Amino acid sequence: EKGIIIAVDGPSGAGKSTLSKLLSRRLDYLEIDTGAMYRAMAWLARESGLDLNDDAAVRRFCSTALVELSLCNGATRVLANGRDVTGEIRTPEISMLTSRISSLAPVREAMVALQRRMGAKGGVILDGRDIGTVVFPDAELKFFLSASAEERGKRRFLELQAKGEQISLEETVQSVIQRDRQDSERELSPLRRAEDAIPIDSTGLTIDEVVALMEQAFHERT
Ligand code: C5P
Repeated sequence: EKGIIIAVDGPSGAGKSTLSKLLSRRLDYLEIDTGAMYRAMAWLARESGLDLNDDAAVRRFCSTALVELSLCNGATRVLANGRDVTGEIRTPEISMLTSRISSLAPVREAMVALQRRMGAKGGVILDGRDIGTVVFPDAELKFFLSASAEERGKRRFLELQAKGEQISLEETVQSVIQRDRQDSERELSPLRRAEDAIPIDSTGLTIDEVVALMEQAFHERT
């Protein structure tokens, strides 16, 4: 039996990648973290000193930048022009740059085309901001995850703290709020819930409780 396409969208820190990973293991599906792909583009842009205001340079950059997700011992590695940047793309600086670079049309066109190729066969869970609205508007199952800004900021803070980043809780909450605003107010593929997406507010719920809700919805659909 051919697997379906599952879209998981929502603001930063809503738990999309954690939940998508867990659900993909339970369903034996492939997980595609599209935020990681935009982060890899931001990493490459910084590395090459790309001027984001230079349209021609941005187009040239997009036609040569190579972003790949590869499965290695059950964990996804993110490759940018062949280099493993998995650990380096999760910093507050790259997060902010990603939010800026992902508002550029050539960047979105390149990533959306790649994501469609990667997901075409089904049996996949894609998590991002525009999966249910733009990348796969016909996805058989869509979720829109959210949680209060405080809770999302707190989750990000704990992640960053665990990695030894020097950042305060207050700063993290503020950067989550700022990124939400940028992602929701941009002109191209702004973050919004697809009409047919199942909304899940995870404030006050455990990860296991949310995965159980998602799995139940999956079994009810198929
Ligand atoms: O999900 P994550 O926080 O890793 O995404 C980083 C950034 O990439 C987001 O803030 C957003 O600007 C961008 N993004 C996007 N479209 C997606 C996934 C991520 O614009 N499908």
